[in-house]
Amino acid sequence: MSVRRLAPDHVQPASFAFDAANENWADQQIAKYPEGRQASAVIPLLWKAQEQHHGWVPRAAIEEVARKLGMAPMRVMEIATFYTMFNLQPVGQHYVQLCGTTPCALRGAEALKKVCEDVIGPQSTVTADGKLSWLEVECLGACCNAPMAQINFDYYEDLTPANFKALLEDLRHGRPTKPGPQNGRTGSEPLGGGETLKDPGLYDGSMIGAGDWQKRVTEQRKAAAEAAAAKAAAEAEAKKAAADAAATGTAGPTDIKEAPAPAAASPGRPKPSDPAQPSGRAQDTPSAASDTIKDTSAKDISAKTPARRPRAAKPTDKPVK
Ligand code: FES
Repeated sequence: MSVRRLAPDHVQPASFAFDAANENWADQQIAKYPEGRQASAVIPLLWKAQEQHHGWVPRAAIEEVARKLGMAPMRVMEIATFYTMFNLQPVGQHYVQLCGTTPCALRGAEALKKVCEDVIGPQSTVTADGKLSWLEVECLGACCNAPMAQINFDYYEDLTPANFKALLEDLRHGRPTKPGPQNGRTGSEPLGGGETLKDPGLYDGSMIGAGDWQKRVTEQRKAAAEAAAAKAAAEAEAKKAAADAAATGTAGPTDIKEAPAPAAASPGRPKPSDPAQPSGRAQDTPSAASDTIKDTSAKDISAKTPARRPRAAKPTDKPVK
Protein backbone atom coordinates (compact mmCIF):
# COMPACT_ATOMS: atom_id res chain seq x y z
CA MET A 1 0.00 0.00 0.00
CA SER A 2 1.46 3.28 -1.06
CA VAL A 3 1.43 6.46 1.02
CA ARG A 4 -1.71 8.53 0.49
CA ARG A 5 -0.56 12.02 -0.40
CA LEU A 6 -1.89 14.70 -2.69
CA ALA A 7 -0.27 14.94 -6.11
CA PRO A 8 2.63 17.40 -6.44
CA ASP A 9 1.80 21.04 -7.11
CA HIS A 10 2.94 21.02 -10.72
CA VAL A 11 0.17 18.58 -11.68
CA GLN A 12 -2.55 20.22 -9.54
CA PRO A 13 -5.10 22.25 -11.54
CA ALA A 14 -5.60 25.89 -10.52
CA SER A 15 -9.32 25.39 -9.94
CA PHE A 16 -12.12 22.88 -10.11
CA ALA A 17 -15.85 23.32 -10.70
CA PHE A 18 -18.54 20.74 -11.34
CA ASP A 19 -19.99 20.98 -14.83
CA ALA A 20 -23.70 21.79 -15.11
CA ALA A 21 -24.89 18.17 -15.19
CA ASN A 22 -22.72 17.14 -12.24
CA GLU A 23 -23.65 20.28 -10.29
CA ASN A 24 -27.29 19.33 -10.69
CA TRP A 25 -26.54 15.72 -9.69
CA ALA A 26 -24.60 16.90 -6.62
CA ASP A 27 -27.50 19.11 -5.53
CA GLN A 28 -29.84 16.12 -5.75
CA GLN A 29 -27.51 14.06 -3.55
CA ILE A 30 -27.29 16.83 -0.96
CA ALA A 31 -31.09 17.18 -0.93
CA LYS A 32 -31.40 13.54 0.24
CA TYR A 33 -30.15 14.50 3.69
CA PRO A 34 -31.93 16.57 6.36
CA GLU A 35 -30.98 20.17 7.04
CA GLY A 36 -27.66 20.33 8.86
CA ARG A 37 -26.57 16.88 7.59
CA GLN A 38 -25.31 17.90 4.14
CA ALA A 39 -21.84 16.58 4.99
CA SER A 40 -23.27 13.08 4.56
CA ALA A 41 -23.02 13.63 0.79
CA VAL A 42 -19.25 13.99 0.90
CA ILE A 43 -18.37 10.58 -0.57
CA PRO A 44 -20.78 10.75 -3.54
CA LEU A 45 -19.52 14.26 -4.35
CA LEU A 46 -15.85 13.26 -4.15
CA TRP A 47 -16.63 10.27 -6.38
CA LYS A 48 -18.34 12.47 -8.95
CA ALA A 49 -15.44 14.93 -8.84
CA GLN A 50 -13.01 12.08 -9.51
CA GLU A 51 -15.14 10.84 -12.38
CA GLN A 52 -15.20 14.31 -13.93
CA HIS A 53 -11.50 14.93 -13.41
CA HIS A 54 -10.14 11.97 -15.44
CA GLY A 55 -10.10 9.48 -12.59
CA TRP A 56 -8.33 11.40 -9.82
CA VAL A 57 -9.16 13.98 -7.14
CA PRO A 58 -7.08 17.19 -7.14
CA ARG A 59 -6.80 19.55 -4.19
CA ALA A 60 -9.11 22.07 -5.87
CA ALA A 61 -11.86 19.43 -6.07
CA ILE A 62 -11.51 18.68 -2.36
CA GLU A 63 -11.88 22.40 -1.62
CA GLU A 64 -14.89 22.71 -3.91
CA VAL A 65 -16.64 19.77 -2.24
CA ALA A 66 -15.89 21.31 1.18
CA ARG A 67 -17.32 24.66 0.06
CA LYS A 68 -20.47 23.04 -1.32
CA LEU A 69 -21.11 21.05 1.85
CA GLY A 70 -20.10 23.76 4.33
CA MET A 71 -17.26 21.60 5.69
CA ALA A 72 -13.71 22.45 6.67
CA PRO A 73 -11.44 21.45 3.75
CA MET A 74 -9.34 19.38 6.16
CA ARG A 75 -12.35 17.21 6.98
CA VAL A 76 -12.85 16.41 3.28
CA MET A 77 -9.11 15.87 2.88
CA GLU A 78 -9.22 13.27 5.69
CA ILE A 79 -11.89 11.32 3.83
CA ALA A 80 -10.20 11.57 0.43
CA THR A 81 -6.89 10.34 1.85
CA PHE A 82 -8.48 7.53 3.90
CA TYR A 83 -10.42 5.71 1.18
CA THR A 84 -8.27 4.13 -1.50
CA MET A 85 -11.13 4.37 -3.98
CA PHE A 86 -10.13 8.02 -4.35
CA ASN A 87 -7.02 8.48 -6.46
CA LEU A 88 -4.93 11.41 -5.37
CA GLN A 89 -2.48 11.14 -8.27
CA PRO A 90 -3.21 11.29 -12.01
CA VAL A 91 -4.06 7.89 -13.48
CA GLY A 92 -3.96 6.44 -16.97
CA GLN A 93 -6.96 5.84 -19.19
CA HIS A 94 -6.67 2.20 -18.04
CA TYR A 95 -5.91 2.22 -14.34
CA VAL A 96 -4.47 -1.12 -13.16
CA GLN A 97 -4.88 -2.02 -9.48
CA LEU A 98 -2.76 -5.11 -8.97
CA CYS A 99 -3.51 -7.23 -5.89
CA GLY A 100 -0.40 -8.02 -3.89
CA THR A 101 -1.97 -9.67 -0.82
CA THR A 102 -0.93 -13.16 0.33
CA PRO A 103 -3.11 -15.48 -1.85
CA CYS A 104 -2.26 -13.50 -4.98
CA ALA A 105 1.38 -13.25 -3.89
CA LEU A 106 1.52 -17.04 -3.46
CA ARG A 107 0.06 -17.49 -6.94
CA GLY A 108 2.52 -15.23 -8.72
CA ALA A 109 1.63 -11.57 -8.10
CA GLU A 110 5.33 -10.72 -7.78
CA ALA A 111 5.89 -11.73 -11.40
CA LEU A 112 2.92 -9.56 -12.44
CA LYS A 113 4.45 -6.56 -10.66
CA LYS A 114 7.52 -7.04 -12.78
CA VAL A 115 5.30 -6.97 -15.90
CA CYS A 116 3.76 -3.67 -14.75
CA GLU A 117 7.17 -2.16 -14.18
CA ASP A 118 8.37 -3.31 -17.58
CA VAL A 119 5.30 -2.30 -19.57
CA ILE A 120 4.07 0.76 -17.63
CA GLY A 121 6.87 1.96 -15.38
CA PRO A 122 7.02 2.72 -11.64
CA GLN A 123 3.83 2.71 -9.59
CA SER A 124 1.63 5.83 -9.81
CA THR A 125 3.17 7.05 -13.02
CA VAL A 126 1.27 7.38 -16.26
CA THR A 127 2.70 6.17 -19.56
CA ALA A 128 3.68 8.88 -22.01
CA ASP A 129 0.65 8.14 -24.18
CA GLY A 130 -1.63 8.53 -21.12
CA LYS A 131 -3.03 5.02 -21.59
CA LEU A 132 -1.79 3.08 -18.56
CA SER A 133 -0.88 3.47 -14.90
CA TRP A 134 -0.75 0.98 -12.06
CA LEU A 135 -0.78 0.61 -8.29
CA GLU A 136 -0.38 -2.32 -5.95
CA VAL A 137 -3.44 -2.70 -3.72
CA GLU A 138 -4.71 -4.98 -0.97
CA CYS A 139 -7.06 -7.96 -1.44
CA LEU A 140 -9.85 -7.26 -3.92
CA GLY A 141 -11.91 -10.26 -2.89
CA ALA A 142 -11.23 -12.57 -5.84
CA CYS A 143 -8.61 -14.71 -4.10
CA CYS A 144 -10.13 -17.93 -5.50
CA ASN A 145 -9.01 -16.77 -8.95
CA ALA A 146 -5.64 -15.42 -7.85
CA PRO A 147 -3.60 -13.69 -9.02
CA MET A 148 -5.77 -10.89 -10.28
CA ALA A 149 -5.98 -7.19 -11.08
CA GLN A 150 -8.79 -4.67 -11.35
CA ILE A 151 -8.57 -2.48 -14.42
CA ASN A 152 -11.01 0.44 -14.23
CA PHE A 153 -14.25 -1.31 -13.24
CA ASP A 154 -13.42 -4.86 -14.41
CA TYR A 155 -11.64 -7.78 -12.77
CA TYR A 156 -9.08 -9.84 -14.73
CA GLU A 157 -8.24 -13.12 -12.99
CA ASP A 158 -6.02 -16.20 -13.29
CA LEU A 159 -3.30 -13.99 -14.66
CA THR A 160 0.10 -15.17 -15.77
CA PRO A 161 2.97 -12.93 -16.85
CA ALA A 162 2.23 -13.89 -20.48
CA ASN A 163 -1.53 -13.30 -20.54
CA PHE A 164 -1.16 -10.16 -18.37
CA LYS A 165 1.36 -8.64 -20.73
CA ALA A 166 -0.88 -9.42 -23.70
CA LEU A 167 -3.83 -7.90 -21.84
CA LEU A 168 -1.97 -4.63 -21.20
CA GLU A 169 -0.98 -4.44 -24.87
CA ASP A 170 -4.60 -5.02 -25.93
CA LEU A 171 -5.75 -2.20 -23.66
CA ARG A 172 -3.05 0.14 -24.86
CA HIS A 173 -4.06 -0.44 -28.49
CA GLY A 174 -7.80 -0.31 -27.88
CA ARG A 175 -8.42 -3.96 -28.69
CA PRO A 176 -11.36 -5.73 -27.00
CA THR A 177 -10.61 -7.66 -23.83
CA LYS A 178 -12.52 -10.26 -21.86
CA PRO A 179 -12.87 -9.59 -18.12
CA GLY A 180 -12.93 -12.50 -15.66
CA PRO A 181 -10.70 -15.58 -15.66
CA GLN A 182 -8.05 -15.51 -18.38
CA ASN A 183 -7.44 -19.26 -18.45
CA GLY A 184 -10.79 -20.37 -19.88
CA ARG A 185 -12.59 -21.41 -16.74
CA THR A 186 -16.03 -20.10 -15.80
CA GLY A 187 -16.32 -18.15 -12.58
CA SER A 188 -14.33 -19.93 -9.91
CA GLU A 189 -15.22 -23.50 -10.85
CA PRO A 190 -12.40 -25.95 -11.64
CA LEU A 191 -10.58 -25.64 -14.93
CA GLY A 192 -12.45 -27.88 -17.39
CA GLY A 193 -15.83 -27.49 -15.70
CA GLY A 194 -17.59 -28.49 -12.50
CA GLU A 195 -16.78 -31.85 -10.91
CA THR A 196 -19.62 -32.14 -8.42
CA LEU A 197 -23.44 -32.02 -8.52
CA LYS A 198 -23.42 -33.46 -12.02
CA ASP A 199 -25.89 -36.37 -11.52
CA PRO A 200 -29.14 -35.61 -13.42
CA GLY A 201 -30.99 -37.48 -10.65
CA LEU A 202 -30.37 -34.47 -8.43
CA TYR A 203 -32.66 -32.41 -10.59
CA ASP A 204 -35.46 -34.78 -11.78
CA GLY A 205 -36.52 -36.10 -8.37
CA SER A 206 -35.52 -39.72 -9.02
CA MET A 207 -32.83 -39.58 -6.34
CA ILE A 208 -35.44 -39.06 -3.63
CA GLY A 209 -37.77 -41.73 -5.03
CA ALA A 210 -40.05 -39.36 -6.89
CA GLY A 211 -39.50 -41.25 -10.17
CA ASP A 212 -40.71 -39.58 -13.31
CA TRP A 213 -42.70 -36.98 -11.40
CA GLN A 214 -43.13 -34.69 -14.36
CA LYS A 215 -44.95 -37.41 -16.35
CA ARG A 216 -47.08 -38.27 -13.33
CA VAL A 217 -48.08 -34.67 -12.73
CA THR A 218 -48.97 -34.25 -16.41
CA GLU A 219 -51.23 -37.31 -16.30
CA GLN A 220 -52.92 -36.13 -13.10
CA ARG A 221 -53.59 -32.74 -14.61
CA LYS A 222 -55.06 -34.31 -17.75
CA ALA A 223 -57.38 -36.59 -15.73
CA ALA A 224 -58.55 -33.63 -13.60
CA ALA A 225 -59.30 -31.58 -16.72
CA GLU A 226 -61.33 -34.45 -18.25
CA ALA A 227 -63.34 -34.94 -15.04
CA ALA A 228 -64.10 -31.21 -14.86
CA ALA A 229 -65.28 -31.21 -18.48
CA ALA A 230 -67.56 -34.24 -17.91
CA LYS A 231 -69.09 -32.62 -14.81
CA ALA A 232 -69.76 -29.37 -16.65
CA ALA A 233 -71.45 -31.28 -19.51
CA ALA A 234 -73.71 -33.19 -17.07
CA GLU A 235 -74.74 -29.97 -15.33
CA ALA A 236 -75.52 -28.30 -18.62
CA GLU A 237 -77.65 -31.31 -19.62
CA ALA A 238 -79.57 -31.21 -16.34
CA LYS A 239 -80.21 -27.46 -16.69
CA LYS A 240 -81.50 -27.95 -20.20
CA ALA A 241 -83.88 -30.71 -19.08
CA ALA A 242 -85.20 -28.47 -16.26
CA ALA A 243 -85.76 -25.59 -18.68
CA ASP A 244 -87.63 -27.90 -21.08
CA ALA A 245 -89.84 -29.16 -18.26
CA ALA A 246 -90.63 -25.60 -17.12
CA ALA A 247 -91.55 -24.65 -20.67
CA THR A 248 -94.00 -27.56 -21.07
CA GLY A 249 -95.41 -27.18 -17.52
CA THR A 250 -94.50 -30.70 -16.38
CA ALA A 251 -92.21 -31.51 -13.56
CA GLY A 252 -89.36 -33.57 -14.75
CA PRO A 253 -87.05 -35.87 -12.92
CA THR A 254 -84.90 -32.88 -12.02
CA ASP A 255 -87.76 -31.33 -10.00
CA ILE A 256 -88.31 -34.50 -8.09
CA LYS A 257 -84.64 -34.80 -7.36
CA GLU A 258 -84.48 -31.24 -6.05
CA ALA A 259 -87.53 -31.55 -3.74
CA PRO A 260 -86.59 -31.49 -0.03
CA ALA A 261 -86.22 -34.95 1.40
CA PRO A 262 -88.64 -35.91 4.20
CA ALA A 263 -87.17 -35.65 7.66
CA ALA A 264 -87.92 -39.32 8.41
CA ALA A 265 -85.66 -40.35 5.56
CA SER A 266 -82.63 -38.99 7.30
CA PRO A 267 -80.88 -41.87 8.96
CA GLY A 268 -78.39 -39.98 11.15
CA ARG A 269 -78.80 -39.08 14.82
CA PRO A 270 -81.68 -40.59 16.83
CA LYS A 271 -84.71 -38.37 17.17
CA PRO A 272 -85.37 -37.12 20.69
CA SER A 273 -89.06 -37.98 20.37
CA ASP A 274 -88.35 -41.55 19.42
CA PRO A 275 -89.64 -43.71 22.31
CA ALA A 276 -87.27 -46.45 21.35
CA GLN A 277 -84.39 -44.29 22.38
CA PRO A 278 -83.43 -44.95 25.99
CA SER A 279 -81.57 -41.72 26.43
CA GLY A 280 -83.46 -38.63 27.52
CA ARG A 281 -83.72 -35.22 25.81
CA ALA A 282 -81.40 -33.60 28.19
CA GLN A 283 -78.59 -35.85 27.01
CA ASP A 284 -79.31 -35.96 23.31
CA THR A 285 -80.11 -32.60 21.86
CA PRO A 286 -78.79 -29.12 22.24
CA SER A 287 -82.33 -27.77 22.63
CA ALA A 288 -82.94 -30.09 25.55
CA ALA A 289 -79.72 -28.98 27.10
CA SER A 290 -80.74 -25.35 26.77
CA ASP A 291 -84.07 -26.20 28.42
CA THR A 292 -82.31 -27.67 31.37
CA ILE A 293 -80.29 -24.54 31.81
CA LYS A 294 -83.47 -22.48 31.52
CA ASP A 295 -85.17 -24.52 34.25
CA THR A 296 -82.41 -24.16 36.76
CA SER A 297 -81.23 -20.66 35.99
CA ALA A 298 -81.96 -17.67 38.22
CA LYS A 299 -84.37 -19.57 40.44
CA ASP A 300 -82.21 -21.54 42.78
CA ILE A 301 -78.82 -21.96 41.21
CA SER A 302 -77.24 -20.76 44.42
CA ALA A 303 -79.34 -23.19 46.41
CA LYS A 304 -77.86 -26.11 44.47
CA THR A 305 -74.39 -24.92 45.17
CA PRO A 306 -73.29 -26.44 48.51
CA ALA A 307 -72.50 -23.77 51.09
CA ARG A 308 -68.97 -23.60 52.29
CA ARG A 309 -68.58 -25.13 55.70
CA PRO A 310 -66.51 -23.17 58.22
CA ARG A 311 -63.21 -24.74 59.07
CA ALA A 312 -63.08 -26.42 62.44
CA ALA A 313 -60.90 -24.62 64.91
CA LYS A 314 -57.52 -26.16 65.47
CA PRO A 315 -55.84 -26.30 68.84
CA THR A 316 -53.08 -24.05 67.50
CA ASP A 317 -55.45 -21.25 66.50
CA LYS A 318 -55.17 -18.17 68.68
CA PRO A 319 -58.36 -16.78 70.12
CA VAL A 320 -59.65 -13.65 68.42
CA LYS A 321 -59.43 -10.62 70.70
S1 FES B 1 -5.52 -11.81 -2.22
FE1 FES B 1 -5.71 -11.07 -4.20
S2 FES B 1 -7.82 -10.94 -4.45
FE2 FES B 1 -7.63 -11.61 -2.44
